[in-house]
Amino acid sequence: MNTEEMLQWADDILYTKTAKHLDSVQRAILEGAWQGLKYEDIAKNCHRSKSHVKNIASELWQTLSDLLGEDIQKANARSVLERKAISTIYNYGKSSQIVTSNINSHINICPENRPSSEDTKPPSPSPPNTPQNKNQTPIIDLTQAPALTEYYPRTTEETTLKNWILQTNARLITIYGLTGIGKSSLTLQLIEQIQNEFDYIIWQSLNEKPTLTTLQTNLKQIFSQTQKTPFPTILDYFRTYRCLIIIDDLQNIFKPHELAGQYLPGYEDYSQFFKQIATTTHQSCLILLTSEKPRDITTIEAENPSTQTLHLKGLREEQAQEILLKKQLTDEEKWPELITIYQSHPLWLKIISATINQLFNGSVSQYLADPNDIYLGDIEPVLETQLQRLSDSEKTVIGWLANQTNAVDISQTPAETALSKTQFLQAIESLNRRSLVEKEPVAGRAMFQINPIFKQYIQLNPDNLK
Ligand SMILES: Nc1ncnc2c1ncn2[C@@H]1O[C@H](COP(=O)(O)OP(=O)(O)OP(=O)(O)O)[C@@H](O)[C@H]1O
Ligand SMILES: [Mg+2]
Repeated sequence: MNTEEMLQWADDILYTKTAKHLDSVQRAILEGAWQGLKYEDIAKNCHRSKSHVKNIASELWQTLSDLLGEDIQKANARSVLERKAISTIYNYGKSSQIVTSNINSHINICPENRPSSEDTKPPSPSPPNTPQNKNQTPIIDLTQAPALTEYYPRTTEETTLKNWILQTNARLITIYGLTGIGKSSLTLQLIEQIQNEFDYIIWQSLNEKPTLTTLQTNLKQIFSQTQKTPFPTILDYFRTYRCLIIIDDLQNIFKPHELAGQYLPGYEDYSQFFKQIATTTHQSCLILLTSEKPRDITTIEAENPSTQTLHLKGLREEQAQEILLKKQLTDEEKWPELITIYQSHPLWLKIISATINQLFNGSVSQYLADPNDIYLGDIEPVLETQLQRLSDSEKTVIGWLANQTNAVDISQTPAETALSKTQFLQAIESLNRRSLVEKEPVAGRAMFQINPIFKQYIQLNPDNLK
């Protein structure tokens, strides 16, 4: 067991019993105790006073002692936690129940640890909107989900999604936002919080571009592992059971070099499938994760109240600070500036923290010495991949936007773009679906602005748009 696994396990234990995650100081204490550090060194690592750390530590040891039924202090923390963790995991592995609160566990429904169809009684059908399996163990398959390595709470978004799913019974939810903004992480965390409300939770990635038929066959195969008599369609499962299905990386089945959110040839039937899920009566929920908001979703949404869309943006400043703390950056007074520049984008902050550590020994002041000429380092390839997908008209418009000082009024088509009004507005709309251009009200008027990091990148590399 390594430090990260121990922290994850301890966080799970704490969360399951207290509904609270470890905070940054508690994590630093556990990490420090694991490595045999003194409180003085732990305090330095997490930029807190020694007395503060000791107070938090004493509460933490007490809580863990109560939860685990054994006296835990800093000196014995490592041996006790390791022993307890191993015994829990062992018992879990032997359990016939397929349930976990461990967000890092990708629970494959494999024959040796799941109930056979002989001794498993599938949940019996009940009226829509009634979870079959409430407080029992759901069947979870996250084998296609990415690993959740680090997560700081996004309380507002978690609450919104829980409300849509559990209170208003949304049938189709789209979560879109920039690459690396945290769509998958948020959804994995959500699963942990609401898993007991469902009979089935299945994560499907579109990384390999499966056709709709392949995706449906995969889903049916997973359902059929606990079913004596398989149903003919996915909708039958959606009606009979409460299912939460996540379709990740939807943008992979959209056309590159064209306006955002249009299906590749041979994948158009996905649109029909999503519409069917949104408009048919059932008790399940399909979540789509994508960096490009699909064009058809806007139409489906306009007609169906059970369809919702969440545009995911950066973390709150507090959470973004946790990332910098974990990366052990210095010059805390400069952190807000760094966070603002990178818009609390978790992936960008992680990448740039690594660069700051490597080039400036963690000094944010040194990195920001010239705020008008920010070095983007390894963020560049991440931006480049997104720009490569743009259509010609989008490239023209984003190149033009990158040279504007302020947000622009789009009611006049700029002559220098040589685009018709329709082409110009379509390009703006499409860039907005990709989160590259944002709308902001200025004196009551809708104005549009390019994302500042993309602006910086395009100004530095104008040829990359050609
Ligand atoms: N709430 C969070 N707290 C801490 N780190 C986070 C959080 N959300 C995301 N991250 C980190 O940011 C990175 C990107 O997250 P994630 O993979 O969830 O983004 P995504 O939007 O799904 O990206 P993609 O579009 O590539 O699928 C990961 O390293 C993840 O650990
Ligand atoms: Mg993702």
